[in-house]
Amino acid sequence: MKVGFYGHVRQYHNLKAEIDAAILEVLESGQYVQGPTLKRFEGELAAYAGAKYAVGVGNGTDALWLTFMALGLGQGDELITHANTFFATAEAMWIAGCTAVLVDCDPLTKCIDPEAVRKAITKRTRAIVPVHLYGQCAPMREIRQIADEYGLFVVEDNAQAIDAHGDDFRIGELSDAVCTSFIIQKNLGTFGDGGAIWTNHQYINDKVRKLRNHGSIKRDVHSFGFNSRLDDLHAGVLSAKLKHIKEWSDRRIEIAARYAAGLKDCDFLDLPVVRPGYRHVFHLYEVETKNPADRNKVLDYLVRNDIDAKTHYSIAIHQQEGFPWGKEARIAGPLPHAEKSAASCISLPMYPELTEDEIDYVIETVCAWKG
Ligand SMILES: Cc1ncc(COP(=O)(O)O)c(C=O)c1O
Repeated sequence: MKVGFYGHVRQYHNLKAEIDAAILEVLESGQYVQGPTLKRFEGELAAYAGAKYAVGVGNGTDALWLTFMALGLGQGDELITHANTFFATAEAMWIAGCTAVLVDCDPLTKCIDPEAVRKAITKRTRAIVPVHLYGQCAPMREIRQIADEYGLFVVEDNAQAIDAHGDDFRIGELSDAVCTSFIIQKNLGTFGDGGAIWTNHQYINDKVRKLRNHGSIKRDVHSFGFNSRLDDLHAGVLSAKLKHIKEWSDRRIEIAARYAAGLKDCDFLDLPVVRPGYRHVFHLYEVETKNPADRNKVLDYLVRNDIDAKTHYSIAIHQQEGFPWGKEARIAGPLPHAEKSAASCISLPMYPELTEDEIDYVIETVCAWKG
């Protein structure tokens, strides 16, 4: 049996009638850029998220740096995130001209460690950027409390956790803005690139809306800006898919439970930890080898056995060659947990369209690994 890492085409086939109809509607409308379908999807996304405003942009990275710019962040401003997130979280800080401050993660959840954030704060700190890594919310109550104590912005990088929530908070409730990615492999993904921000602050909405469209909200009237719009074709696809996000998340949670039960006796692996009361939507099912020296061996073994396992992310940002490429960056403290995670992580296949046989084949194969 072959088990792929992504279920994009299966998902398309399951939803073909809805997606084809959505695409056809845009094609026939003659309005493809900032047209009515984008407007409608932005309304649907805001309603879904319980936010006052949502703005579609070109991708998740742009969502982050456009938000930083809208908040007036730039040269000399320090923004704190953790070293084991996807590269784009820090990259967006550099694009906005800010200093990326990298801290360690919680060794259990791999999300940002609030105590590490607190220790990293200086007079130049302006924002905290927690990432809801792998589909589980960062500890937003603690982050919010630190932000309030020091007067900092909070921008959530929600590229991986649409439809997740915390024990007593929802995404967006405790921050200034939420940024998300709709690249195809995300839990809510289009056939290409896309992104969005949502916020309750009108000034962030207005600023990002203008920045994404050459500094313009009125024909021929411009200020400095960029081109980063979510195309109507993507908005149509996302509108069709948004209706299914809850059932897809539920299925991911079900698969994660089957993995957890099947892998619990694999003594060479640590399994994902879900914080009590949190809805972890398992964008990725990330396990770690207890011994980092085993990671590549297990990975090769899985691939040899036709299981397309991957790593997210095997090189922490500060360990990438050439870091920080002439950009402003600070490594705040030793980062042993982020480095251990990079050295030992393995992502097993995880998507709602996995069959029970495929899940069981992954479990059996992993369990049969002999050092
Ligand atoms: C945590 C995180 N932040 C930011 C991004 C950037 O999103 P995009 O690829 O749409 O630019 C991604 C995904 O790609 C991500 O996983």
